[in-house]
This record gives sequence, C-alpha cells and structure tokens, in this order.
Amino acid sequence: MAEAAGRGGHVALSGGSTPGPAYELAARLQPDWSRSELWFADERCVRPDDENSNYRLVREHLLDGLQREPAVEHRIRGELPAARAADEYERELRGIALDLVLLGMGPDGHVASLFPNDRALEEEERGAVAVRRPDFERVTLTLPVLNGAEIVLFLIVGDDKAEAARRAFGGPSSTATPASLVRSSHGSTCALLDRAAASALGV
Ligand code: 6PG
Repeated sequence: MAEAAGRGGHVALSGGSTPGPAYELAARLQPDWSRSELWFADERCVRPDDENSNYRLVREHLLDGLQREPAVEHRIRGELPAARAADEYERELRGIALDLVLLGMGPDGHVASLFPNDRALEEEERGAVAVRRPDFERVTLTLPVLNGAEIVLFLIVGDDKAEAARRAFGGPSSTATPASLVRSSHGSTCALLDRAAASALGV
C-alpha cells in the first residue's frame, strides 16, 4: 500500500476489523499520499462518523496519520440511500482502473460487500452496486473493477477464515466463495494470511 501510494495512482481500501493496523503501518511507511487518489472497496450505508463506517475506519487508522492526504478521497456517501450512493460512485468510477485494491474476507468467503451467490456477482457493466444485507444496506465495487486492479491484495487473519480461505485459494472458483472470483486480470494477486487463516490450505 505504501509503495502504491508513493508511486501515485488509484488505491482502494476495505473496512472490517483486520486492516486497521496495516493502515497505521502504511501511514508510517509513507506519510505522503498526495500523489494518490483514495477509493473504497465498499461501504455500509451509515454516516461517515458512524462506528460502522469504513470511511471512519480509514480516516482514523490511515488518513489522520498522514502528513499529506490523498489528492482526492472518493468516499462512498453511505449517508445516502444505497441505490443513489451506488449510482454516484458508478459515475465517479467511469474510466478509472485501480492500481491497488486491499480486500479482507469474511468467514463466508465474502469480499468487499460481494456475498455468496449474490446477484451482485453477476454484474458485468457497472463498477458499483447497492447490496441489501440484514445488518446494513451497502455499496460495493463489482468484480470487473476489482479484477481490473493492477494489484489485488488480500489481508486475512484468524482461524474462522481457514475454511473459506481453502475454498478461495485452494479450489475451483465459485459464486459460493466470492473471494475465489477476485484475481487481477492483468497484474498480480497476493493473499497475505496468518498461520491460522492458512491452516486448511496445507501450506
Ligand atoms: C466490510 C468489509 C468486508 C470485510 C470482511 C472481513 O465492510 O465489512 O469491507 O468485506 O473486509 O467482512 O472483515 P474482518 O476483517 O472484520 O474479518
């Protein structure tokens, strides 16, 4: 992340409980993100100051630690109705190819807000769509945008992710495991797992 921000370009980040320490380290390694534009892999439809906001997580763990912030912060406006926020982000994404996207993965194999067997996985035209979930309405980047990234970087920790990691990185791709469908189409894909998350991969 620090290298990508230093080179300049379009960097997309995720929420969840895992990446906070990595964002803090990236801010220390590269305190000047002014050559980059910041995007979000997904957002929960809450206000940006809400404890469940992915923007707030990135604000507190990365942006507040920087000397120079990204030239543009493309925040998903979670305070809007999901469909409207998705349309807005869709327009903003047109013509953009990500240089790096950082993704976590849920125990069910979801990435960003692309959940198992969700019809959002079939989206081939739009770069961002709204997703209705029991916890929050969400807005997520779609597979064409994620797979269009030069660098796809997974950061996954914990034994509760081991089975999904086995399906995502050790077996055939399937809509039942969205993480198995995300691979850079022309660049590199890297999965950083701790021992617990990699425990079912036999590595
Ligand atoms: C979100 C995230 C989501 C996250 C996974 C893993 O908005 O929830 O973007 O895709 O990366 O749920 O979350 P944890 O890191 O908390 O396990």
